[in-house]
Amino acid sequence: MRPAVFLVALAPLAASAAQEKKSAEDWITEIWDDFKNAVDCFSCQALLGGLQAVSIFGESFMEDVITGVCSISGAEDSDVCAGVIANEGPAVYYSLKNLKLGSHTAKTFCASLVGLCEFPEVRPYNLSFPSPKPPATRPPPSGKPPIKVVHFSDTHVDLSYEEGSNSDCSKPICCRSYTENDAPGNTSSPCGPWGDTNCDPPHRLQESMNSAIADLKPAFSIYTGDVVAHDVWLVNKSEVLDDLNATYGSMEKDLGTVYAALGNHDAAPLNLFPSNNIPSEYNPQWAYDALASDWFALTGNPSVKAASEYGSYSAVHPNSKLRIISYNSIFYYKYNFFSYEEPMEYDPDGQLDWLITELQEAEDSSQRVWLISHIPTGNSDHFRDHSHYFDQIIQRYDATIAALFFGHTHTDEFQISYSNYTNQNWDTATAMGYVAPSMTPTSGPPSFRVYEIDPVTYAVVDFTQYIANITDPTFQTKPKWVPYYSAKADYGSKLSPPVEDPHVELTPGFWHNVTVAMEKDPSVFQDFWARRSRGFKVPECTGDCISNEICALRGADAQYSCYKQAPGFSFEKRDGQGVKALSEESFQQPECNHAGMAPLFAKISHRARLARQSGL
Ligand SMILES: *[C@@H]1O[C@H](CO)[C@@H](O)[C@H](O)[C@H]1NC(C)=O
Ligand SMILES: *[C@@H]1O[C@H](CO)[C@@H](O)[C@H](O)[C@H]1NC(C)=O
Ligand SMILES: *[C@@H]1O[C@H](CO)[C@@H](O)[C@H](O)[C@H]1NC(C)=O
Ligand SMILES: *[C@@H]1O[C@H](CO)[C@@H](O)[C@H](O)[C@H]1NC(C)=O
Ligand SMILES: *[C@@H]1O[C@H](CO)[C@@H](O)[C@H](O)[C@H]1NC(C)=O
Ligand SMILES: *[C@@H]1O[C@H](CO)[C@@H](O)[C@H](O)[C@H]1NC(C)=O
Ligand SMILES: *[C@@H]1O[C@H](CO)[C@@H](O)[C@H](O)[C@H]1NC(C)=O
Repeated sequence: MRPAVFLVALAPLAASAAQEKKSAEDWITEIWDDFKNAVDCFSCQALLGGLQAVSIFGESFMEDVITGVCSISGAEDSDVCAGVIANEGPAVYYSLKNLKLGSHTAKTFCASLVGLCEFPEVRPYNLSFPSPKPPATRPPPSGKPPIKVVHFSDTHVDLSYEEGSNSDCSKPICCRSYTENDAPGNTSSPCGPWGDTNCDPPHRLQESMNSAIADLKPAFSIYTGDVVAHDVWLVNKSEVLDDLNATYGSMEKDLGTVYAALGNHDAAPLNLFPSNNIPSEYNPQWAYDALASDWFALTGNPSVKAASEYGSYSAVHPNSKLRIISYNSIFYYKYNFFSYEEPMEYDPDGQLDWLITELQEAEDSSQRVWLISHIPTGNSDHFRDHSHYFDQIIQRYDATIAALFFGHTHTDEFQISYSNYTNQNWDTATAMGYVAPSMTPTSGPPSFRVYEIDPVTYAVVDFTQYIANITDPTFQTKPKWVPYYSAKADYGSKLSPPVEDPHVELTPGFWHNVTVAMEKDPSVFQDFWARRSRGFKVPECTGDCISNEICALRGADAQYSCYKQAPGFSFEKRDGQGVKALSEESFQQPECNHAGMAPLFAKISHRARLARQSGL
């Protein structure tokens, strides 16, 4: 262990490092010690200092050192360590080089990646709106028969899924022949033909879901992103393009119009969607181009081609007053290493300004708007600054925005915006974000959602969640997609007075009242809590866990979501007996991230803490 005085001697360290190049082995030991010594925000800055000192010797030296630390920590298998770091190392190198220790950016880095700093206070930023907020309110229901719109998300199809291969491996996803022992015939826990909860699903599961959706004859569908599988240490450009082709190709074949959004997995390496401040060589232009062309094929709407710029578009649904705005939430994602600029950008690529322009145009044309995107703004892995700026836009246009639709967490959740977060009430609730669970079965039965939509106001009047129960043995014969629960029948009926009229909107106030019912009647909360993972491995949630979760549902502006950083998070390596639930902090764990560079930092830090505790 290094003396504590090291912690206050960052600058001399960097200088002495420059004078004398230590071997990679020495650095590995030293950085591993830094991880073990990193117990608070201050020592996390020391860890960053150490990593910066290593990066002085170049990108590949830094990658070797981090790979070595990853391997000795046991955070992942060595090939996973090496693959992940080779993919995302260039971005980490780029951001480390420019980071100023102790800055807002560095604190956000430590908060996001090692969990040792609290998120710093939101930096004030003035958005400017073309016109003052009018006195308009949400339109009343039309009373006309609703139309159906399907929402699905996080498909993550694995084209290399192999029936009969090992479902009990040590990698982030299984059901592939990584070794001879994993091959069909050589394993005692073979993967079934339709999927496994330790694996991303085979393509045929998507085809099965498509056909169940098509049978319901929706007016159109929305898809909130994440096409590519979680073999993130292997994924390259050609795999991503094959995946996009297979997934979007099969939607095009089976479904009518689909409006889609960009997922953090939809490029290689994952998560890295730099703004135009960053050299263009890092820009995944090829992914934007492929997505824009797939999305055009799915809608026939030329407006969606704008997605080739940075993944966002604004399209008016034909013969309607509905504008669908799909925006790139990965700009505000804490695992997008290119966001850690000095200083961090307030409005990467001017997307927030663009949103204001589009919303103003919708308001001026008496249209209603749906915002669709991958990462919910209130999620713990969304930057708080941008969550707040975004929420200001929501507040300005709350009468125009009918609803927001997200995915990413793989769980069934929602988020409410308020005009005043210190006075959260049914009549200050202003916007509703629907978070749909995943098709990939790693955190519960594969699922899609059917909304009932007012055909005049485009308000959500109800939804029914469908699942195919993967833990039921008949699933492997042929998945059956069946209704699981419905919002009005299963939540509206619990309110006093009950809300059951089939025509009335599920307003933000309705959902606020649902959270009040959760506070009053624990069974309402426990039902929600079980539905989150469709009844799969439901963790216990009592006491503070309940109030934290309710607070998160009321936290579309992330600074109000009650989320607290915890060191090391609860990520663990799959150990061949299923993922260990080491959860000091299971609440709001982002489920979509269990295999990239950022969770690797978290896992290393967790391993370091275990090593420190056991005195190794
Ligand atoms: C934001 O606007 C207010 C009022 O117009 C002004 O006082 C303040 O200086 C502005 N802040 C920034 C960061 O530009
Ligand atoms: C199964 O394992 C044996 C030896 O352990 C190996 O010879 C064989 O090739 C493996 N089967 C497959 C399909 O890899
Ligand atoms: C991309 O990955 C695939 C599957 O792992 C592999 O077969 C292929 O060779 C890789 N392509 C390149 C260009 O590295
Ligand atoms: C997928 O690839 C095939 C063959 O290259 C091509 O014909 C097809 O248009 C592609 N589909 C999509 C949705 O990109
Ligand atoms: C928000 O609500 C609090 C508590 O009711 C109140 O003190 C405060 O004035 C409100 N803020 C605004 C901007 O209305
Ligand atoms: C799924 O099937 C299992 C096994 O039959 C059953 O225990 C479970 O309750 C089912 N889950 C749901 C949500 O229906
Ligand atoms: C919410 O509940 C209150 C009673 O506590 C009721 O007055 C109000 O109408 C309800 N709002 C909605 C939108 O259901």
